Amino acid sequence: MSPLKIAIAGLGVVGGEVARQLMHRQEQLALASGRALQLVAVSARSASADRGFSMDQIDWHDNAIDLAGRDDVDVIIEMIGGSEGVAVELTRTALKNGKHVITANKAMIAHHGAELASLAEDHNCYLLFESAVAGGIPAVKTLREGLAGNDMSRIAGILNGTCNYILTTMEQTGEDFADVLADAQRLGYAEAEPSFDVDGIDAAHKLTILAAIAFGQKPDFAAASIQGIRDVSAVDFAFANQLGFRIKLVGVAAPGQVPRMQTCLLPLSSQLAKVNGVLNAVEFYGEPIGSVIAIGPGAGGGATSSAVLSDIIDIAHDRGGMPFGRPVAQLVDSADQVGAAPADMPFYVRLMVVDEPGVLASVTGILQRHEISVESLIQQGRAPGDVVALVMTTHETAESTLTEALDEMASLPSVKAKPVAMPIFSAEQE
Ligand SMILES: NC(=O)c1ccc[n+]([C@@H]2O[C@H](COP(=O)([O-])OP(=O)(O)OC[C@H]3O[C@@H](n4cnc5c(N)ncnc54)[C@H](OP(=O)(O)O)[C@@H]3O)[C@@H](O)[C@H]2O)c1
Repeated sequence: MSPLKIAIAGLGVVGGEVARQLMHRQEQLALASGRALQLVAVSARSASADRGFSMDQIDWHDNAIDLAGRDDVDVIIEMIGGSEGVAVELTRTALKNGKHVITANKAMIAHHGAELASLAEDHNCYLLFESAVAGGIPAVKTLREGLAGNDMSRIAGILNGTCNYILTTMEQTGEDFADVLADAQRLGYAEAEPSFDVDGIDAAHKLTILAAIAFGQKPDFAAASIQGIRDVSAVDFAFANQLGFRIKLVGVAAPGQVPRMQTCLLPLSSQLAKVNGVLNAVEFYGEPIGSVIAIGPGAGGGATSSAVLSDIIDIAHDRGGMPFGRPVAQLVDSADQVGAAPADMPFYVRLMVVDEPGVLASVTGILQRHEISVESLIQQGRAPGDVVALVMTTHETAESTLTEALDEMASLPSVKAKPVAMPIFSAEQE
């Protein structure tokens, strides 16, 4: 069989590692693919950078879009990134020219997935993005193939290694968010501009893609509810632990509900609570399977290139499948599906209050008026006149009701900072 001819746009952390794997493991990858894999052309910004492999037999293009115009290229691997710009233009052009596209670009798929999948269908090519979700964990294939016969009811995942590293380190060291973030930046676990990670956006891109495949809906990033980890303070970990929980940034998607990224409390005994450091995890719930969890490295050149290589091998065997597991015409608009308010949940609430007579009565009065019942209440030490933490856990309540109560509490003169609230998941809900 003729070799599968490949072009890579973007030779950074992921694209560079894919190129090195293709160049250094040719025989093994040819066996797995049933044919030779030939890297014929590449593009990046700097033509002179040492990429750790020989460019002698590979054509260089200053303009990545030109890769899509080459007659000898079967597959374009888009590893530039970004929800707009060159990456999207390259992907559109490649698909229109009948080239298969593999991408790790979750932002692009979360924003333009349905349009690009349509183009792939119209031009009879594959659009594959295993590497876009949870790095090395085969989450996309698990849903699209292994669990294809299930009626999926829920997905819950730890989908951003940077956030999980920061939360784990905050818990283990007692340091605050800003200090741990600065360390993570020094160690290369967080970007200099960290907001995509710590504000939950990167994880929400991945959750949007998983929800689309699991529930047969068009990816719709705008529909997601997104919360990051900036509001969590060192003191919350100590209280959560005392109550038998661990704090994690978890993405949850279910049919008919807005996909949500939220910091939450998980029981210490739950599977997701045990996923620490830079690891990612995805838990799939469906019938008849029950539940399955996959845990593994969610980022880095090695893990992510493993997912890219599996997509290349699928194309070599002509078994790429449909991007979202079904024809685009059968994907529903998520706006038509998403309607139900989130189920009532118990919440963890932390207030920073002046330790003075009457504070507790004002706070509990507000809770009473909103018919929110308190399960437990802890006050951090006694320090008359000082600001101390007042922590409560509530029984099941509607999030909207709690938000109204917290807004009222925030306006009390003795409440000195924005109240922090996080849902408490039971082991089954994680
Ligand atoms: N890093 C991870 O662990 C990871 C995990 C999962 C998914 N992803 C996704 O993988 C994609 C790539 O991420 P990365 O971490 O590999 O990024 P990166 O290290 O920043 O690499 C980006 C590459 O794109 C090249 N590039 C930038 N603008 C270009 C342009 N206009 N034309 C051609 N090439 C251009 C850069 O060239 P120069 O090298 O010359 O600057 C660089 O080689 C993103 O979509 C990201 O979300 C990354």
